[in-house]
Amino acid sequence: MRYSRLLLFLASFLAALSAAQQDSSACTACQLLNDTLPGLVFFSGSSDYTEDDSHFAASSTQNSTCTLQILGRDDVRAPFAVKGGGHSSNVRFSSTTGVQISLENFNQIIPDPYTNTLQLGPSATWDEAYAALDPFNQVSTGARIPGVGVGGVLLGGGYGWVTDEYGLAIDNILSWDLILPNGTFVQVTEESHPELAFGLRGGFNNFGIVTSFTIKTHPGNQVWAGTVTFSLDVIDQVFAALENYSFNHTDEKAGLLLQYSAASTRAPAIMAHLCYHAPVSDVPEVFSELLSIPALNDTAHLTTLSQFLLESFGSFLNPRVGFAQHAIPIIHYTEPILRSIQAQVNATVAKAIADGTSIISASVGSEPLIHPFVDPKDSAYPHSTARQITPANVFIFYNNVSDRDYMSNAIREFSLEIQKVAIEEGWSRPDDILYSNYAVAGTPLELIYGDNIERLRALKKIVDPTNVMGLTGGWKVPV
Ligand SMILES: Cc1cc2nc3c(=O)[nH]c(=O)nc-3n(C[C@H](O)[C@H](O)[C@H](O)COP(=O)(O)OP(=O)(O)OC[C@H]3O[C@@H](n4cnc5c(N)ncnc54)[C@H](O)[C@@H]3O)c2cc1C
Ligand SMILES: *[C@@H]1O[C@H](CO)[C@@H](O)[C@H](O)[C@H]1NC(C)=O
Ligand SMILES: *[C@@H]1O[C@H](CO)[C@@H](O)[C@H](O)[C@H]1NC(C)=O
Ligand SMILES: *[C@@H]1O[C@H](CO)[C@@H](O)[C@H](O)[C@H]1NC(C)=O
Ligand SMILES: *[C@@H]1O[C@H](CO)[C@@H](O)[C@H](O)[C@H]1NC(C)=O
Ligand SMILES: *[C@@H]1O[C@H](CO)[C@@H](O)[C@H](O)[C@H]1NC(C)=O
Ligand SMILES: *[C@@H]1O[C@H](CO)[C@@H](O)[C@H](O)[C@H]1NC(C)=O
Ligand SMILES: *[C@@H]1O[C@H](CO)[C@@H](O)[C@H](O)[C@H]1NC(C)=O
Ligand SMILES: *[C@@H]1O[C@H](CO)[C@@H](O)[C@H](O)[C@H]1NC(C)=O
Repeated sequence: MRYSRLLLFLASFLAALSAAQQDSSACTACQLLNDTLPGLVFFSGSSDYTEDDSHFAASSTQNSTCTLQILGRDDVRAPFAVKGGGHSSNVRFSSTTGVQISLENFNQIIPDPYTNTLQLGPSATWDEAYAALDPFNQVSTGARIPGVGVGGVLLGGGYGWVTDEYGLAIDNILSWDLILPNGTFVQVTEESHPELAFGLRGGFNNFGIVTSFTIKTHPGNQVWAGTVTFSLDVIDQVFAALENYSFNHTDEKAGLLLQYSAASTRAPAIMAHLCYHAPVSDVPEVFSELLSIPALNDTAHLTTLSQFLLESFGSFLNPRVGFAQHAIPIIHYTEPILRSIQAQVNATVAKAIADGTSIISASVGSEPLIHPFVDPKDSAYPHSTARQITPANVFIFYNNVSDRDYMSNAIREFSLEIQKVAIEEGWSRPDDILYSNYAVAGTPLELIYGDNIERLRALKKIVDPTNVMGLTGGWKVPV
């Protein structure tokens, strides 16, 4: 079947679903799809079905009625999908009890060292993408942790290890292959479709399904990088060094993520993940204050970006049962903000244990960047150079999926307490944008898209007048 016909079929199928969203209509739809697309539709009990529904966290996994795997064939120019890399922390963002469309087979990674570009499929992961650039001694901006998918990162924002040098991942996109909600295939560039390009830089699945992205690459794959673990005894010194780093350093090659965590079964821990983008074998000057503090363990050494991800964050390749994530918008980290992070993380774990929940750990990753918005493009994700927000990355892991609502509320509340301190310190505002790829479901759309909502609504009216994409979950632009 011609790909365009397949997509028209899917689009009309989704439109039909909008009329009646009951389970029985999903069953009918799955039967219809199975009749029309033999071999591409999978039902409960098959291993393809299980794989298509699976996510990084069980708490954002649902059992669909059936799954669709659209294969990348020559006569199929581009696919249709709901799930990219499956790393969303929010249920229904890439999971459903209806029809799961998996982009499993759209995991292409095609570097072009002659044009300094990289073509990526939405279910490829960033560690794989960086590894594919190693032979050409290149890097790109993308996620900092292995296993995270290309799709959500490139449709949301993308804070990576080389972001102070080269900006957000969305600001490095040159073109998109897109299936519009009516089944039409378009190749989008800023020149060909400026308004769609605006919408796709942060608009997730609101404007269709992206089957391929082309991004810029940059020279040099070597980094001096690793993880330094400190004792809690020196935490005041660590916080003082982080404050000075956050306010005073000017070295764009430096990346730092300070993670404070507390857990139900171990003592709290403080670690600094460091990444310096240059082939140096000694401690870069910019980290010398932090690294003059005695450490329990220090793995920093000369390596490559792809190896650093696996060396320092390899455990993140294992799926988790329960996972909640949120953002705290902060411009600079002061010692009072860092102390409030410590107190709130401690208190959250203590309360969750006292409340009889299955909490494993809570943590906040402080990400002091100088200017993540290096060369911001016209984007659905508001990120003006006038306000260089860095999102603190807040995590909770837990054991029992039944605790999902408790953990979502807990993460929202304790993040707000920390933001209050940041506001008092002058380094956050109540209306600051919350990074969409971290924000917990239920965050008001105004804090996701800010002043862009009306412009997105106007685009949505043109591109998706019947609101087909409203049938998928996520940050939904109103019609
Ligand atoms: C352990 C961990 C570490 C992380 N580290 C970082 C980090 O360093 N930097 C950072 O910026 N973010 C980070 N994130 C957040 C990450 O950006 C989001 O989880 C992101 O959405 C993941 O993309 P995905 O394709 O894996 O997710 P999915 O759950 O598959 O997709 C996320 C959303 O995008 C939509 N989508 C995906 N692909 C497509 C497509 N092709 N067309 C249309 N819609 C699509 C889905 O429908 C869904 O709504 C991290 C998350 C985790 C869990
Ligand atoms: C799907 O179609 C195949 C034939 O292509 C058939 O063997 C199978 O039983 C169908 N599955 C369901 C659940 O109807
Ligand atoms: C999905 O189905 C499997 C097998 O029946 C079950 O073990 C699992 O708990 C279900 N998951 C959800 C989220 O309903
Ligand atoms: C920044 O550096 C200056 C000069 O070294 C110092 O006086 C100041 O305290 C530093 N700022 C912070 C926030 O540490
Ligand atoms: C504070 O940071 C600046 C800029 O990185 C650095 O030159 C200075 O030595 C640091 N202060 C201390 C006390 O280490
Ligand atoms: C330091 O960390 C590395 C990597 O996690 C580990 O292999 C090593 O055993 C640790 N060393 C100490 C002294 O804890
Ligand atoms: C956090 O917990 C640790 C260990 O339980 C404790 O040493 C520390 O004082 C606590 N800090 C705050 C600010 O509550
Ligand atoms: C998970 O929590 C639910 C509701 O509190 C409870 O009924 C169930 O027994 C728990 N499951 C496990 C494995 O502890
Ligand atoms: C699909 O939508 C696009 C954008 O609105 C439009 O240009 C195109 O003509 C539509 N195609 C069909 C087949 O309706």
